[in-house]
Amino acid sequence: MTRLPGHGPGGPSRRKVLWGGAAAAGAGAAALTGADTVFRSLRFPVENPGADDPAGAARPHGERVHPFHGAHQSGVATPPQAHARFIGVDLNKDVDADGVRRLLSLLSDDAARLTQGRAALADTEPELAAAPSGLTITFGFGPGLVERVDPGAIPAWLKPLPDFTTDRLEERWSHGDLLLQVCCDDPLTLSHAARMLGKDTRAFGTVRWSQEGFRRSYGAEPSGTTMRNLFGQVDGTVNPAPEEEGFDSLVWCGDDAPEWLQGGTAMVLRRIAMDLEGWDRLDRPGREDSVGRRLDNGAPLTGTEEHDEPDLEAMTPLGFPVIAEYAHIRRARSPDSEERIFRRAYNYESETEGAGLLFACYQRDPERQFVPIQRRLDELDLLNEWITHIGSAVFAIPPGCEEGGFVGQGLFES
Ligand code: HEM
Repeated sequence: MTRLPGHGPGGPSRRKVLWGGAAAAGAGAAALTGADTVFRSLRFPVENPGADDPAGAARPHGERVHPFHGAHQSGVATPPQAHARFIGVDLNKDVDADGVRRLLSLLSDDAARLTQGRAALADTEPELAAAPSGLTITFGFGPGLVERVDPGAIPAWLKPLPDFTTDRLEERWSHGDLLLQVCCDDPLTLSHAARMLGKDTRAFGTVRWSQEGFRRSYGAEPSGTTMRNLFGQVDGTVNPAPEEEGFDSLVWCGDDAPEWLQGGTAMVLRRIAMDLEGWDRLDRPGREDSVGRRLDNGAPLTGTEEHDEPDLEAMTPLGFPVIAEYAHIRRARSPDSEERIFRRAYNYESETEGAGLLFACYQRDPERQFVPIQRRLDELDLLNEWITHIGSAVFAIPPGCEEGGFVGQGLFES
């Protein structure tokens, strides 16, 4: 049976949830673009054709859209698309609050168009926008951006993370004033969207880093299948699901956040290099032991199915814990139900930069959620033998905006 990550039987079906989302997308698009787009988004909702339409012939998946406008930005609780690009931008020194406002208006306007399959305002290749393929564009603010608008509005956690002893961070993969997160099931659409956003941004800043990530191709597996990372592990099993009770309070910022950020979230992006050659030298039991889960289906070493609850008390006949003290899942787990993060990671790989994980996670407060987990992993986690954190950035992801508004607008109104 296919389940949503971290989601037991009996929850809302993905089909139902996605049809609901598509209807919302259709409603949003109606006012903007007329019946044509509405028809398309309703006819081709975001859905995986895998099971009931193996050929994908009846519903070209390039036509699927996610809403741009709404209470939250898309691209966080959205089922992860096959491709992602995370772009960190440094703002030019002379960009003041007014400049930030102009930039965010331009970006939001183009993102609203592109995600709905329409050309950007000054699109030189409008045909490339025609297959949105589940495109989402999500904006994040580093402290440098918020400071230019209202230094008093920077949340306490919006700063570099504390040092961890196993960190080997490189500036070229770290920090940044503005994040453009572009996720899509089609690499050509993604490339075009990123280029259009780049044109908007060019007069205001420079690209500090750009990181490309991937998962399985759209439709390669039934929707809801947990992803695999480049170590071959099932990665993302125990993860709060957007439909789950408690997700909202774990992920979306509430009353304790500055007003402009309520309904937004905090993103931590870690670039984690993975030593694939070293991992290859380890035998299969050793690999499974390091995490505490089986490689074939991701089941805990104390169970048989992926979503079985790990038994951390279970002992071998020789009196050793079945899930070792140093196993990644034991160390990452907390008895505190509020100390959880929402992971939405992507693999990366290139001949020149090696391979690893773009560990993207979302939470309402990284100091309260990401940091204590990473402290435990830093202290003890056998996986540290084969992984190295080489990049780190924290961004405030503002809430979504209404039609005619722009992402981050609340920052100018506080
Ligand atoms: C390249 C680096 C990493 C790899 C390869 C990796 C791999 C895995 C795998 C295979 C699992 C088990 C399946 C699952 O529940 O997802 C897992 C679980 C988990 N990982 Fe990681 N991970 C990495 C980094 C991190 C980091 C940096 C954090 C947070 C600071 C983290 C937090 C977690 C959490 C919270 C779980 C679920 C634990 C539980 O069972 O309650 N991981 N990871």
